[in-house]
Amino acid sequence: MANDILKFLREKEYISGEVLARKLNISRVAIWKQVQKLKDMGYKIISDQNLGYCLVSRPDLLLPQEIQRGLSTNYIGKEIYYFPEPKSTNIIAKEKALHRAEGVNEGTLIIAERQSAGKGRLGRKWFSPAGGIWLSVILYPQLSPSYISRITLMTAVAAVKAIKICTQIKSQIKWPNDILINEKKVCGILTEMSAELDIINWVVVGIGINTNIDHRDFPEDIQENTISLKEVSGKEILRVKLVQVFLQEFEKYYEILKRREFSSVLKEWKLYSHTLGKKIRVDTGERIITGEAVEINEEGALILKKEDGELVKILSGTII
Ligand code: BTN
Repeated sequence: MANDILKFLREKEYISGEVLARKLNISRVAIWKQVQKLKDMGYKIISDQNLGYCLVSRPDLLLPQEIQRGLSTNYIGKEIYYFPEPKSTNIIAKEKALHRAEGVNEGTLIIAERQSAGKGRLGRKWFSPAGGIWLSVILYPQLSPSYISRITLMTAVAAVKAIKICTQIKSQIKWPNDILINEKKVCGILTEMSAELDIINWVVVGIGINTNIDHRDFPEDIQENTISLKEVSGKEILRVKLVQVFLQEFEKYYEILKRREFSSVLKEWKLYSHTLGKKIRVDTGERIITGEAVEINEEGALILKKEDGELVKILSGTII
């Protein structure tokens, strides 16, 4: 109901409680209660005895109604669960993903203002203060589990594109899933899945974007390697807009992936690559391999050329 009121408030400068009550078929007292609710959410609404209610400003929050307004996706973000401060949006998304049969749909989004226990790759913590974008998307792809790396790479392309569209800032992708600006991390992706031998049950793609944050607020040990979009652009970023554009790009690339046309996504990934052509060291969890990053193949694997010329295929690992 609060959302319906918001819709009317957005259309006109002033609208009376009486008109609202008539339009929504509820009492004026009920309208007043809903308006209080909106105020509690951070909407600034003034009221005039004669003219009625007027929406003055919206809160700078990632509220579902703000994101969905003007979102042009078909299914990504059609359902949004918003939390001011959960432990981790990936944790919530994974719990929800189990309930497909009870109506949790592909594209369901979990979004937070901050996270108290954000998760990074390889069991690391992910610092997630207010001002960032912390979200997870639930997917049910009819693809083989080997597609998981491709989903991560495609998410990175969507993020780079969205950042460019919204802020004009150019960023690069460090294989497999770090987005860098000036060699510093601005965004990370954590893809988790449940699968059987040849089918995926669910995938949760979590993405964190350091948006309107000061890198000095980060833990000391990562400050030096961290940057935010606001710091690069010198001004506040419209987070709602960035989320919308990211979701649109994400759906576009996910559709391409589902059509099994990954090669065109890969082409774009390579354009933004920070890794290819560089001499790097990769920790695969089992060993550390040094070599030149010569290719990302059709599976999304990194191909390293060792000093002795041997080519090594690495499906997952961390560049150190
Ligand atoms: C990494 O680079 O290590 C991956 C970081 C992923 C962070 C995002 S923030 C939203 C989602 N929820 C989490 O707990 N983690 C991911």
